[in-house]
Order: sequence, then structure tokens, then C-alpha cells
Amino acid sequence: MDLLTLETPSLVLDISKIKRNITHIHKRMEKLGINLRPHGKTAKNIDVIKIALDGQAGGITVSTLKEAEYYFSHGIIDIVYAVGIAPVKLDRIAGLIKKGANITLILDSIEQVKFVAAKGQQYDLNIPVLIELDCDGHRSGVTLDDSLLLDIGHMLNREKGVMMSGVLTHAGESYQCKSVEEIRVLAKIERDMAVKCSEILRQNGLPCPIVSVGSTPTANFAEDLTGVTEVRAGVFMFYDLVMAGLGVCDKSDIAISVLTSIIGHQKRKGWVITDAGWMALSRDRGTASQKVDQGSGLVCNVEGDPLNDLIVSSTNQEHGIISDRSKKEIAWESFGIGSMVRILPNHACATGAMYDRYYITDGSTEIIDVWHRINGW
Ligand SMILES: Cc1ncc(COP(=O)(O)O)c(C=O)c1O
Repeated sequence: MDLLTLETPSLVLDISKIKRNITHIHKRMEKLGINLRPHGKTAKNIDVIKIALDGQAGGITVSTLKEAEYYFSHGIIDIVYAVGIAPVKLDRIAGLIKKGANITLILDSIEQVKFVAAKGQQYDLNIPVLIELDCDGHRSGVTLDDSLLLDIGHMLNREKGVMMSGVLTHAGESYQCKSVEEIRVLAKIERDMAVKCSEILRQNGLPCPIVSVGSTPTANFAEDLTGVTEVRAGVFMFYDLVMAGLGVCDKSDIAISVLTSIIGHQKRKGWVITDAGWMALSRDRGTASQKVDQGSGLVCNVEGDPLNDLIVSSTNQEHGIISDRSKKEIAWESFGIGSMVRILPNHACATGAMYDRYYITDGSTEIIDVWHRINGW
């Protein structure tokens, strides 16, 4: 089957690019002497995660319990659920642990230790827990100078129903960096903070076997990860325009694209109308704050080659509007009504979430496989 026979919009993945992107990070990790704990939230698909786990220790990261259940049903046991824990999720987590999954939770408050410990006792489990650290002011976590680090550590070590397993941080601010040099600096801050916290915990008699760091930008530019035990990253498998804008990858590395049909011309406005609106591309406008704003996506021909200045400049629910940002006249004959183009997305995870399957290609328009993906919570 060929892409040109598909209903649009559809989601396309180029398998060679995925393998190349993953191999690049595997080689980096090997050089740094560290294990990759791939994040399952980008692909939400077992075939991609199997490639990412090749040669690694076997553990993954997830961002939803649906991912945890899905990957566990495909034989992955060691799972870090890397979103701060809420009490309403604990019965489901206990159920997974009872079935044999090794689920590790993250938290950054005494309240969370209390309800996790109570649930662990109720189910006769010792639920493994990492203390979430805030290395860059991005979102959540305990800061280096906060006595909460030791308070949580001692409580996790003392209470029944929980097990103190280490620390975890995510340099999410790396998405805002303005240069590769800034990413390198942040990667060092991420590593140094996590290692320092692990030392403080150990100096106070507390166990800290896991020191977990990671984001796609810092995983690409970290120079020394001494003292860290694992790196988490997800977007690197597919990449996207935000990562290309940051200088983390090249546009030609982006493995994910949306196939869309051209459904109209507005010649007087210089607009090509497509059937990929924000339901197909997502509302993510991550490149809006970067040097080059790619609108809601960069237009490629159906073979997947980017077409210079053509971007999706505006979207409605089921309509996309393509225009030329340099205001050049559109070559209308190349965008006939009923023909197709592909769009590189701003954010791979957000665009992927709109679809239930990937059409797999390998450099041409031939579809060589169809891979399922999960969504929801
Ligand atoms: C806690 C945590 N770890 C790791 C990652 C992976 O980072 P990236 O999406 O840059 O690959 C994320 C992403 O949001 C995250 O929230």
C-alpha cells in the first residue's frame, strides 16, 4: 500500500529515522557509561520502545497509568511513573504491582508519603518511591536547599508500605534554551543537583540507589554524568520542530509527520487549504517563542522533503491554512486540489496524541507496516 491511498489526515512514521535517532542516543549513553530508561509517553507504542530498549537494562518511564498497563501487558516490568502521585491512582498501581510489575513512583511532599505509605500497608506492599527534585525551577520537586529533602527521605525510610529508592529530576527548562551551549550548562546543573542531593541523603544514612535525570535536550548534550544511574528521554525517538529549533536535531531527523489532503485554494490570499486542522496537528505552538516560528507545522512534499518557507500559518478544528512566510507566490500547480502533502509537527507527543495508529514508511511513500498506539489515561 502507498501513502497516497490513505484517508487523511493520517500519522506517518519513518522507521529509518527512528532507528537512526535512537542509535545516536544509545551511542551517547554508551560513551557516558550510563543506562537509558526510555520514556514511553512519546511513542505510546511497544514496537518503538523495543527499539529504544535494545542493549539497555530494560526499564522504562511512563507518564500515564494507561502507558504503564499497556507496556506491562507487553512484558516490561520495570516502570517509573514520572508524574507526581495522586491518591486516586494508588489502587490501580497496587493492582499492577500485585500482578508482578515493578512500579516506582515520584513525589515531593510529606502528604504524598503519607497516602502512599497507607496504601502500601493496606495492600501489604513496599511501594518504591523516588524523591522528585527541582533542578531548574521548571515545575515541581524539592530544591537543594530545602530541608524537605531529608524530611521526605527519613520518612520514606522509616514508614512501612514505602521504600526509599532514590532521586529523580527533569531539566524541563532545557526547552527554553537559546543555544546548544545553554543546554550543555543546564545538563551540568541537572546532573550536579541530582548527585548532590543523593550525597546529602547518603551522608544522612539514607539509601539512594537510583539517581535519575533527563530530557531530550540534556540527554543530547550532557558531557559528564558521573554519579547518575540512568537517563530518561522520549522525544528524541521522533524529534520535532521544537527540537530542531533548539539545535538538538536537524529537520531531516524528524521521523513523524501528518499526511493531509489539499481541499482548496484561496489564491487571492495566497492560501492552500488542507484537511489537517488543530485536531490533526494539535494546538501546540512550541516554536512560537523560537527564532524561527514554524506556525502549526512545516510543509513537506508527500515524500517527506521540507518545502522551504511553506508553513501551516493558521488552523481551525478540521482545516489547516498553508501559506508562504516569505510572501512568495505559491506554485499552485504543485498543490492541486486532491493532492497530498506532509506536515512536520511542533511537538511530536502532542500531535501523536490525536491518532490511534502509525503508518510506517522507510524513506519512500510505501507503507510497510501499521503500528497501534494508545491514548488517554
Ligand atoms: C519527568 C520527565 N522525565 C523525562 C521526560 C522526557 O523528556 P523529553 O520529553 O524531553 O524527551 C519528561 C518529559 O516531559 C518528563 O516529564
